[in-house]
Amino acid sequence: MEDINYPSFFSLNYQMELIEKAKEIIETNWRGNFTVPTNKLYPFQWNWDSGFVSMGVANYDIEKTIAEIKSMFSGQWENGMLPHILFHSEREKTYFPNFDFWQSTVNQGAPAKPKSSGITQPPVYGFVLEDIFNKHQSNQSLIDFVKAIFPKLVAYHRFLYTFRDPNQEGLFYIFHPWESGRDNSPLWDESLNRIKIDKNTLTKYKRIDTTLADASERPTQDQYDRYVYLLELGKRYAYDGVEIAEQSPFLIQDCMMNAILIKSNESLINIGRALQLDVSEIVEWQEKSKANFSDKFWNEELGVFASYDMRSGEQLKHKEIGGFIPLFAGIATDNQAKRIADYLQSVSDKGYFLCPSFDIDSPLFDSKRYWRGPVWPHMNWMIREGLQKYGYHNLAETVKSDSLYLVKKLGFYEYFESQKSRVPNISKGYGGANFSWTASTIISFLSEPS
Ligand code: GLC
Repeated sequence: MEDINYPSFFSLNYQMELIEKAKEIIETNWRGNFTVPTNKLYPFQWNWDSGFVSMGVANYDIEKTIAEIKSMFSGQWENGMLPHILFHSEREKTYFPNFDFWQSTVNQGAPAKPKSSGITQPPVYGFVLEDIFNKHQSNQSLIDFVKAIFPKLVAYHRFLYTFRDPNQEGLFYIFHPWESGRDNSPLWDESLNRIKIDKNTLTKYKRIDTTLADASERPTQDQYDRYVYLLELGKRYAYDGVEIAEQSPFLIQDCMMNAILIKSNESLINIGRALQLDVSEIVEWQEKSKANFSDKFWNEELGVFASYDMRSGEQLKHKEIGGFIPLFAGIATDNQAKRIADYLQSVSDKGYFLCPSFDIDSPLFDSKRYWRGPVWPHMNWMIREGLQKYGYHNLAETVKSDSLYLVKKLGFYEYFESQKSRVPNISKGYGGANFSWTASTIISFLSEPS
């Protein structure tokens, strides 16, 4: 393994080149008013992808940023739900499950156009909007846009608190792993395996992902059957029925998504106060969420935050990347932050790029397959921010430079090998190539004061 001398590796010239390449990728993935994650594998608008992309793009093109977010919210449902995918083009056939499988309009408040999926993704838009707002305080058209979009973001959070929090804990549930953004993490295995699949009654379907990407990097067939089962369950109850909480065998309070909600609430409160908008409802949500977060999710034995399975009534006891995100939301105690930072330092010392998406010591760890071990650039952006907030500047720097190194060495892929010893033997990253959130994260990293 070559010795990585990061400072000389990332000369200013080289950083400029990286930014230019990133901009080109985003330009290629631009579809008139939004960005696709990557050309073939994901040909539509994805919720949290677009959030990260708009934050990166805001560093050089505010018009595009506004268009991207507007386009995302054009798919918001009347109940406030912000779908995980918007199918802007109904002619695009290279994706399953497509709009005709989701049938979003079983919910009366779903727009006829754009058609969408029936589930959501991590609620990133609050912090995304604050980041953009802070950078463009003197741009009047941006301020007007923020004022116009603000109530839509509040409506989205209201959806989560109203439809996804049956016990009124201030902590919302997901009923499909795809909502978590960490689709195929081993975190969900046990809960998914509890689902009994009857192949005779499961709706017939044909995957497309394995024809476009290496099957060894994608979820297995058994997992896919369960994804389809849960999708069908959501559809049966119009995607927002109370029956989902009653019937779904998969019902999880994800610590990462709830941390992101808290972070986004805080951002909305900050923006609202700066623009003299009413924030009382958000403040109320926020108090409840923050009060219950640590008791529900902190696992003292593991030393990380852990998601909670509402069906088994237990935490999912794994060291997984979502468990570090509460640092980003500023809701960890100093002691909790130290446990997480010490753990990440030990992972780095053992020869891994930060941050592997799953516990490197678990038999379920797989440094190549999807969310089961590789490094994800946009996750690193949040983790780096979190580490900075708690004063772990060196570790934060490692998270950033590992990300830059992987992109330089292996290209702007969707995600990356986490085991350092393997990298000399491979020539590219994993999943989709020329990936938008990888490009935008690089721009965000390189545009921040270091
Ligand atoms: C995969 C990821 C998800 C992402 C989507 C589009 O499904 O797991 O987080 O939003 O791809 O990039």
